[in-house]
Amino acid sequence: MPTIAIASSKGGSGKSTTAALLAMTLAEHGATVTVIDADPNRPIAKWAQHAGKPDSLTVLSEVTESTIIDTIEESGRRAQFVIIDLEGSASLMVCLAISRADLVIIPTQGSPLGATETAGTVRLVKIQEIAALQNPGSDSVYPHQRRDAAAQDGSASTAL
Ligand SMILES: Nc1ncnc2c1ncn2[C@@H]1O[C@H](COP(=O)(O)OP(=O)(O)O)[C@@H](O)[C@H]1O
Ligand SMILES: [Mg+2]
Repeated sequence: MPTIAIASSKGGSGKSTTAALLAMTLAEHGATVTVIDADPNRPIAKWAQHAGKPDSLTVLSEVTESTIIDTIEESGRRAQFVIIDLEGSASLMVCLAISRADLVIIPTQGSPLGATETAGTVRLVKIQEIAALQNPGSDSVYPHQRRDAAAQDGSASTAL
């Protein structure tokens, strides 16, 4: 199931708002959604304490660099969509989450600093994409790339 990371090295660019709106919209349309709140400030966990969160939306916030990969994998087995809200940095946690994402959304505002930070985050994604492609047997290869590679060589059952 799709894992969507919301990333930007710039604080205040709209990551948590995007994560919450996307999660709510998907849940309101009948999907099961897990949001992994990987920001140490726990904005999504705090938001989820307010009334109105659908039962189909789960928020996990007890996540560390050591547990983020397992948390993403387990969440993907239980929910139709996994959304990861990240802190505004290029930390190990951010890199690990990006390495497991099918899609990375980079919110930005129309400012020179926003453009610079967005370009830096795009580079971060590309670096991991290159690293994964150079080692296609690695567990860190993107899930959608594993599926594409498996479809091409007919080894879907082993690659997934
Ligand atoms: N699309 C948007 N348009 C206008 N303001 C926004 C938008 N998305 C977020 N904001 C506002 O920007 C501020 C920072 O948003 P937030 O989601 O907390 O950013 P981040 O998680 O990247 O730090 C908040 O006050 C939020 O309400
Ligand atoms: Mg945030």
